[in-house]
Amino acid sequence: NTNIVKMDPDNIDYNIIKEASEIINKGGVVVFPTETVYGIGADALNDEAVEKIFKSKGRPQDNPLIVHIADYSELYNLVSDIPENAKLLADEFWPGPLTMILNKKDILSDKITAGLQTAAIRLPINKIARALIRESKKPIAAPSANISGKPSPTEARHVIDDLMGKVDMIIDGGSTDIGLESTVVDMTSEVPMILRPGKVTKEDIINVLGKCDYDPSIIKNDDKLIPKSPGQKYRHYSPKARVILYKGPIEKIIEKINNDYEKFSSEGYKAGIMSTVQTDAYYIGKTKIMVGDRTKPLTISSNLFKVLRDFDHMGIDLILAEQVDDSGLGKAIMNRLSKASSQTIILRKSDTPLTQGE
Ligand code: TXA
Ligand code: MG
Repeated sequence: NTNIVKMDPDNIDYNIIKEASEIINKGGVVVFPTETVYGIGADALNDEAVEKIFKSKGRPQDNPLIVHIADYSELYNLVSDIPENAKLLADEFWPGPLTMILNKKDILSDKITAGLQTAAIRLPINKIARALIRESKKPIAAPSANISGKPSPTEARHVIDDLMGKVDMIIDGGSTDIGLESTVVDMTSEVPMILRPGKVTKEDIINVLGKCDYDPSIIKNDDKLIPKSPGQKYRHYSPKARVILYKGPIEKIIEKINNDYEKFSSEGYKAGIMSTVQTDAYYIGKTKIMVGDRTKPLTISSNLFKVLRDFDHMGIDLILAEQVDDSGLGKAIMNRLSKASSQTIILRKSDTPLTQGE
């Protein structure tokens, strides 16, 4: 039985937080909002509770979980050493959408870390998340609150669709702000490595540390490169519909999407276009959802997973998606879009399109 409760992050209901923390302390599972996506949480120090998370999500056992804390000082209980660079990043970006990989202490079990000697730690800024972690007095293991492989939930409705009946409580704190999962950065190497791009960008980290790189598997779409982050190897963020991603000059993208839409429709497929403020008017009369404004990446990141799920609810077979500028937050948007897509069509100024994937 799942208890669904609404809460305003700016007006914390401490009775509900108390109830939720009791569930956590009894080994139960609570879904709560963070500034990135909703998380499915359990006591990180209780293996049986953590096992429930894996079961509910259908998550592969070899994919480790992020451990969430409410105060920086808790870090000392969980990891064996805190490099100077990690302190600097914590100072700058915690609380916030940054997860750091650090060498773990024995208190964190193999269950959480999937047998790795490192652990992923994050200190979120969302007030509901922090109140729950504080009141529980436990580090909380929380992956995104979706069925494994589906887009991460950015509204309680998405969690209800995926996990109703499989968790003890869902705290509905409204839409999440960022809409994409936190930046994961490995702090155990000499140069910090981004394993998953997010709102905190490579440039943001370089501004603080003077160095930072992407894990090679993020830049190259090469299946032979094994990502350092186990989660990145799985097909991810996939709606039921197939996603086709169009790259190239925007006028070429618009032209090709319009042509493909007609072609797919004539073949009996239900196609849907993921448009943007700047391009929406070019798809008049077609099935489409506007994802956001190309000049304001946060409008796109916060809507992306919701739009993918909305297309599924509309019974769309094929989602035709435009490339966005992949600098800053756009890097994370393009990373998720690439992972969601089964085919990429690359258009050049004049000649015929190249097709990748399938
Ligand atoms: O924004 C977020 O990070 C959300 C919210 C709920 O905090 N959580 C989230 O968790 O996205 P999850 O489990 O869906 O993604 C965690 C990612 C996975 O790709 C996992 O493989 C990676 O972090 N990860 C966890 N521990 C790791 C480790 N020790 N080394 C490398 N990657 C690790
Ligand atoms: Mg996830």
